[in-house]
Amino acid sequence: TKQPSLYAFPDNPTLQQNLYHYILQAQADALTRHQKFKIAVSGGSLPKLLASPDLLASSDIHWDKWEIFFADERAVPLTHPDSNYALLEQEFLSKIPKTAPQPTVYPINPEKLSDTEDLADAYEQSLIASFAAKDSVKLPIFDLVLLGCGPDGHTCSLFPGHVLLREEVAWVAAIEDSPKPPPRRITLTLPVVTHALKIAFVATGAGKKEVLRRIFDTQPETEGGEVLPCALVNLGAGEKVSWFCDHAAVEGVSFS
Ligand code: 6PG
Repeated sequence: TKQPSLYAFPDNPTLQQNLYHYILQAQADALTRHQKFKIAVSGGSLPKLLASPDLLASSDIHWDKWEIFFADERAVPLTHPDSNYALLEQEFLSKIPKTAPQPTVYPINPEKLSDTEDLADAYEQSLIASFAAKDSVKLPIFDLVLLGCGPDGHTCSLFPGHVLLREEVAWVAAIEDSPKPPPRRITLTLPVVTHALKIAFVATGAGKKEVLRRIFDTQPETEGGEVLPCALVNLGAGEKVSWFCDHAAVEGVSFS
């Protein structure tokens, strides 16, 4: 299989401009395919980088066709400072022009269910309701999954060496022992991520250069004998994966 694309830009505005054009193309492909744009987004630094002036002011963005799901979420109320929904709302959703038709957002809402397994099952049911009718029922096909990369190589709430990386059936899973706080989380599983039509990672800053070097090493680096989650996405999805980085983050990465 072909390799992921790795792009490095001098600064965040340039990265954001390029990410905007990539998203426009993904949106165009998706609208041709099914008149909708189904995406999943993570937390971290991503929502802020996503919210570029280009994207927010663009007349080519069809907000009413956007269906936004969460790649991962923390089991806290949607108003809690740790909530990825709250983060997305604050950094991105609230900045969409109010005059535009708004996207449909599918939060993972822990207020309804306190048990994380129940919460994961409930979110899986909403994915099934949204995806299964037209797509393969084995796995949902997101048009685009937008991810971050942790300094330890985690993505979504899929952590290095975690048993959840071996999940093959579930679309959504619970985790109670996240090494990155808070510990109780809900996440899309690896097969769902790699099944997407496009996957984009956004990783910026010198804090990412060690892990990026390990992810793009020709011999995928292992942590306790296991391939890093971000590298597993690269291996599983190949050319469908694009990395949007800055120069600081790719310092020392060998482009092969
Ligand atoms: C979460 C995030 C997580 C994040 C990475 C990268 O809920 O913790 O979804 O997976 O994307 O930790 O975060 P940064 O972009 O802030 O480095």
